[in-house]
Amino acid sequence: MKILVMNGPNLNFLGIREPGVYGTDNYETLCERIRTKALELDMSVEIVQSNSEGTLIDRIQAAYSDGTEGIIINPGAYTHYSYALRDALASVSIPKIEVHISNVHQREEFRHTSVTAPVCDGQIVGLGLLGYELALEAIQTFCRNTKMKDEM
Ligand code: DQA
Repeated sequence: MKILVMNGPNLNFLGIREPGVYGTDNYETLCERIRTKALELDMSVEIVQSNSEGTLIDRIQAAYSDGTEGIIINPGAYTHYSYALRDALASVSIPKIEVHISNVHQREEFRHTSVTAPVCDGQIVGLGLLGYELALEAIQTFCRNTKMKDEM
């Protein structure tokens, strides 16, 4: 199973940015945790981070034809206003899970809206880096169930 994990703007600054909100683990630690969990689940994972909306959109579009079977995405602040990212996600019909490290619902009002969540299958919020590991488990089960339904 081939999964793409995408991180949007400023997530490369984990451990540096607002540690009280996002914790003290850095981005490399996050990537290590994702790789370890993927290995445990026998999944192949590609991790991408970009501060640029266009790069994220290009990568989502590439997923349409490169065999990617699921996308886990933390769009960072783009979550709250990027209709372009939302449209890109909507155009690729594979399982998608949105992840947020912090509990966006306990934070500023503008973070309560996600324009990308409605085009994803599920959302994990506020569980720290564990959210990515849970998303890997969830997407594996989700993909298996979808395949089973298709075969019936
Ligand atoms: C975030 C929440 C967003 O509101 C914020 O802009 C981020 C990180 C999170 O993972 O909690 O960059 O997506």
